[in-house]
Amino acid sequence: MANTATLEVNGEKHEFPLVKGTENEVGIDIKNLRSATNGVVTIDPGYKNTGSCESAITFLDGEKGILRYRGYSIEELAEKAEFLEVAYLLIFGELPTQEQLDKFHKDIKAQSVVDEDVRKIIDAFPKSAHPMGVLASLTSALTAFNPSSVNVNSEEDMYKAIVKILGKFPVLVAWTLRKKQGLPLDYGDNSLGYVENVLKMMFKQPNCEYELDPIVVNALDKLLILHADHEQNCSTSTVRIVGSSHAGLFASLSAGISALWGPLHGGANQAVLEMLEGIKADGGDTKKYMAKAKDKDDPFRLMGFGHRVYKNFDPRAKIIKKSADDVLGNLGVEDPILDIAKGLEKEALEDSYFVDRKLYPNVDFYSGIIYRAMNIPTDMFTVMFALGRLPGWIAQWREMRLNQEPIGRPRQIYTGETHRPFKAIDKRS
Ligand code: CMC
Repeated sequence: MANTATLEVNGEKHEFPLVKGTENEVGIDIKNLRSATNGVVTIDPGYKNTGSCESAITFLDGEKGILRYRGYSIEELAEKAEFLEVAYLLIFGELPTQEQLDKFHKDIKAQSVVDEDVRKIIDAFPKSAHPMGVLASLTSALTAFNPSSVNVNSEEDMYKAIVKILGKFPVLVAWTLRKKQGLPLDYGDNSLGYVENVLKMMFKQPNCEYELDPIVVNALDKLLILHADHEQNCSTSTVRIVGSSHAGLFASLSAGISALWGPLHGGANQAVLEMLEGIKADGGDTKKYMAKAKDKDDPFRLMGFGHRVYKNFDPRAKIIKKSADDVLGNLGVEDPILDIAKGLEKEALEDSYFVDRKLYPNVDFYSGIIYRAMNIPTDMFTVMFALGRLPGWIAQWREMRLNQEPIGRPRQIYTGETHRPFKAIDKRS
C-alpha cells in the first residue's frame, strides 16, 4: 500500500502521509492541509470520518463486533477481571499485580471522604432534580474543594488526582440516589471491595444492616467493566477536548458527564426502559412501535438500537443480554419488560429496515433491565453508566495530556451574511 494519499484541490495535487495503527487501521494525516492548500478545510459533521487522535487505550472494530481494552477482549475481561483491575489496566496500560492492585485500592479508599460542605450543595437541590444534573454539578464542585491543579508532568501528582476522583466519585453517585430517596448521606464501608462499597453506600437503610448479595455484586461489577471505555465516543471526546484547554481533571469529567446524559448517548439506557414501559402500557404491541421506528415522519427511534461504530452486534450487548437472563433468573425476578425487549430484538433482526441499516441492539438495550432488577431507579441508570465510564475518561484525559495534544479547536465553513452596514434601531423593520 502507498504511504501517501493524493488530494487535488483547484487543479493542484497535494500529498498527505498515511498513518497506520497496530490493528492496520489507516488514516490520512491532514495536519498540513490548510497550509498546503491555502486555507481549505475538511467538513465532517458528527466527525463520522474523522480520527481526532492516536490512542493506545481501546480498540474497537465495528464491522466484526470486536472490543478490546489495552489488547484484552471485553469478553475475557467481563468474565475474569474485577472492575478495579480493569480501571487500573485502562489508566496505566497493564493489568496490575496483586500488590499494585492492593496499593491502588488502599490509595483510593484513603480518598473516599468528601468535604462535609458538599452536603450543603446537595441540600440545595430539589429532590426532583435529575441525578445526572446533580452528579455533573457535584463533580464540578469537587474542583472548588480541591483547588490545586494537577501537574501533569509529575506522575505522582497525576496519580494523586486519579485516586482522589476514583475515591470520591462513588460517594457522589450514592449521594445523588440517597438525596432523591430522602435517605441520610452515608460513607459506606472501607473494609469492602470497591463495587460492594458502592452498593452499600447506595442502598444501606439507616435502621438495619445492608446485606450484600453476591449475584448483585457480580452483575454490577460486570456492567461497570462493560461500560469502562469505548474510545472516542461523545462524552470521551468531550473530556479530551475540555482537558485540551488544560482545564483540570474534575472539570473535564463534569463536562463528560453532561455529554453522557443525552438520550443518543448514555441517556439511552433510561430512554430504553421508558420506551419498554410505554410499549407495555400500550398493550405490548411491538409491531406498532417497529412501524413507528421505521416511519421517517415519526421522531420515534428504537432506543438501544444502532451505533455509530458497530455495524454488527455490539459485543457488550451480547454479554449483557446473557447476564440479564442469568441475573433475573438467579434473583427470581420476573419482568415482562424482558420479554418485550426480546420480542423487539427478534423482530428488528428480521426486518429489512434494521438489517439494511445494520442496526443491532447496543449496550443500553438490556442494561436497564438488570439495573431495575437490582432496585436501581430508572433515572439513575445513566449515573451507573458514568460510574463505569469514569476510568475510561480518566485514561483518555491522561493520555491526551501526556501526549501533549494541542487544544481542540475545529474550523468551520461560514454560511452566514457577508459584511453589511449597521442599521440604526429606528430603521429596522
Ligand atoms: N431506530 C430507528 N432508526 C434508526 C435508529 C434507531 N434506533 N438508529 C439509526 N436509525 C436509522 C436512521 O434513521 C438512519 O436512517 P436513514 O439512513 O434512512 O436516514 C440510519 O439508521 C443511520 O442512522 P444515523 O442516525 O445516521 O446514525 P448515527 O451513527 O449518526 O447514530 C445513534 C447512531 C446511536 C445515535 C443512533 O443509532 C440512535 O439514535 N440510536 C438510538 C439511541 C441509542 O440507543 N443510543 C445509544 C448508543 S450506544 C451507547 C453509547 O456508547 O453511547
